[in-house]
Formats: sequence, structure tokens, C-alpha cells
Amino acid sequence: MSDVIPFIDLKAQRKRIGARMDQAIQRVLEHGQYILGPEVQALESGLAAFCGARHALSCASGTDALLLPLMAWGIGRGDAVIVPSFTFVATAEVVALVGATPVFADVLADTYNLDPDAIGPACTAARKQGLKPRAVIPVDLFGQPADYDRIAPIAKTLGIKLLADTAQGFGASLNGTRVGAFGDAAGTSFFPAKPLGCYGDGGAVFTDDDALLEVLVSLRVHGGGRDKYDNVRIGLNGRLDTIQAAVLLEKLAVFEDEIAVRHRIARRYNELLADAVVVPIVREGARPVWAQYTIQVERRETVQARLKEAGIPTAVYYPIPLHRQSGYRHFPAAAASLPVTDALAERVLSLPMHPYLDAATQDRIVEAVRDAVR
Ligand SMILES: Cc1ncc(COP(=O)(O)O)c(C=O)c1O
Repeated sequence: MSDVIPFIDLKAQRKRIGARMDQAIQRVLEHGQYILGPEVQALESGLAAFCGARHALSCASGTDALLLPLMAWGIGRGDAVIVPSFTFVATAEVVALVGATPVFADVLADTYNLDPDAIGPACTAARKQGLKPRAVIPVDLFGQPADYDRIAPIAKTLGIKLLADTAQGFGASLNGTRVGAFGDAAGTSFFPAKPLGCYGDGGAVFTDDDALLEVLVSLRVHGGGRDKYDNVRIGLNGRLDTIQAAVLLEKLAVFEDEIAVRHRIARRYNELLADAVVVPIVREGARPVWAQYTIQVERRETVQARLKEAGIPTAVYYPIPLHRQSGYRHFPAAAASLPVTDALAERVLSLPMHPYLDAATQDRIVEAVRDAVR
């Protein structure tokens, strides 16, 4: 077996900015404000400026970043929230955590993102079960922005909130607007493997809504009011650590450059693989951030085993759609079947993707993929 190459190379990023990050962490150790220290506010301003949202509120994870707005809007028992079935479990988990019902909808065959035309039928399915549709959570899957231009007017007409799950999408844009600026609120994740990742768990909520921000601030620290011993609502311990904010500030400084490199790498993959496998499409006006580079193949297990043999790590996001998971299959779906979701779950395969992937390594991956599918 040849040398194993990394799926995501965080060590290469450390070679570039590790010294600056270590100094930033050291500064936190010296000032000692581990909880909501000055780096947290600096990061929040930087994140809001980066994506053009009025407010960014950092929090403990991407999961909390989705949970907090649902809590703030008072979504709960008897309410329905429309989510794609082809996503990471947290998209639906947060809905169930607040006591509401996730309603699974199908995705589009080309972008793998929520099908805007499935939102109406999902609301009808919810009402048939006596539930009140309150929100929709489109996902920027693999870093491709969801169809916000179509989804936003649909959500408005239906009178439901639009919460963007941009855990995989931060850094992407649609028609010149960065994700984070779409929807009534958006939540992202700083899990280490994300395009903008910290050295642990972290996340952020984005919104233009001043009143929502005030409630989110309270919810993030135990539902505090005047101070932390005045508890006006049920909240969480949902803060981002100052050390993680310090790490993220250094990573944000090179993020723009990393996004440009991600584009070059994804374009090169597309050029070199388009005649051998189904490669990702980029919809018009979209600039994905390529959290994953995902192809579709036949006989996936065989292809994956051959690639492993050649030292190429791969991943399957996601082998079991949420509407088929044992913890979730009792929830309703927009239709009797979700055929696009089911087909994708059988065929998708993600290849190594990060901004430090050099051309020689990428050529090795491409050759191995071409061999494996032959
Ligand atoms: C689509 C999606 N939503 C939500 C999350 C949750 O983020 P976290 O792991 O930071 O809680 C993730 C993280 O993997 C994700 O990919």
C-alpha cells in the first residue's frame, strides 16, 4: 500500500499560521479571560463583517447555532419544521430537541440541496398531522449555497421562518451575497474539519434582527436577564471559549485566500474527473466553499476499497438518510418516498479536499479514482 494522504490536512495549515495561532492562544493564557474574553467580541465583529450579516453571535457548536434561534422563536410541541433528509443529523436533531416535529423533504438531484418545491407539500403533510409549520431549515450541503433566492419568497408566503444551516457553507456566496446573510437567521459550525474550523467545538448564529439577537444573547448564558442570576427564560451554557475565538481570528485572516485555493482545487478535480464519474455542479451565481468534494459512483464499496488500497482516504456523507434512521423514521415526510435522497445515499463519495492539497497529490487521487471506477 502506498503512503496514506490526509483527507483534510490541518497540519499543513499549521505550518503556515501555527506560530501566529500559538501566540494568539498564549495571549489568552496571559490575560486569563477564558469566558467571553475580548477575542470573542473581536471574532463576532469579524464574522459579521465577513458575511455581511448585521450580527454574529458565537456559540459552543453548530448544533447550538441552530438550536438557539428555534428556542428564541418559541418553536416547540405541535410545531413542524421542514428539513432535508439528506443532511447531517443535527439539522433535524435541533427540531426534535425543542419538542417540535421535523418533516423530511427531498433534495435536488444536481445540487443535493433542499428542493424548494418540496416545502409546500411538506407543510401540507405537517398540517394533515395537526402540526403547525413554523420554519424551514435549508442546508448548504458540502458548501454549496442552498437556493435562497427561491426558498426565501416561499417561506415568506407560507409565513414560516427561514433558518439557514450553513454549518458546511460559511465562506460560500450566492449572487454576490455571502451565506450567513440569508434567512431570518443562519447557524454555522467551527468543528475542526469545517472550512473555517477551530481546535474543538464552536459555532455562530447570524441575524439582522436586533430583537432576536437580544434573546439569543440571553439564551446563550442560561436565559439571563439583567445579570446571570436573573433568569428570565430557560437557556443553555452555549458560549464559545475565548481560546477558540483566538484560533478562529487567526484562521479568518487567511480564510479568503484559502477559499480561492479551494475553488482552484475543485475546478481542477472537475476538469480531471468529469469524463469518469459524476462530478459536482456549481449552480449559476453560486460560489461554493467546497467543505466536501463529492462525486457519485456506481459500486461505491468496491471503489472505496480500491482507493483505500491506493492510500486514498474517502468518506460517505451520508450513507443513511435521516428519514430512514431508527431515531428519526417515525417523523413525517413530505411525500411517500424521497427518491433523490435515497439514490444519493447509495452513490455519493467524498474525496480529500482542503486548501493545502498540492497538484501532485491531487493527480495521484485523480489517477486512483479513474483506475478504481474502470
Ligand atoms: C449540516 C450540518 N449541520 C449541523 C452541524 C452541527 O455542527 P456541530 O458539529 O458544530 O455541532 C454539522 C456539523 O457537522 C453539519 O454538517
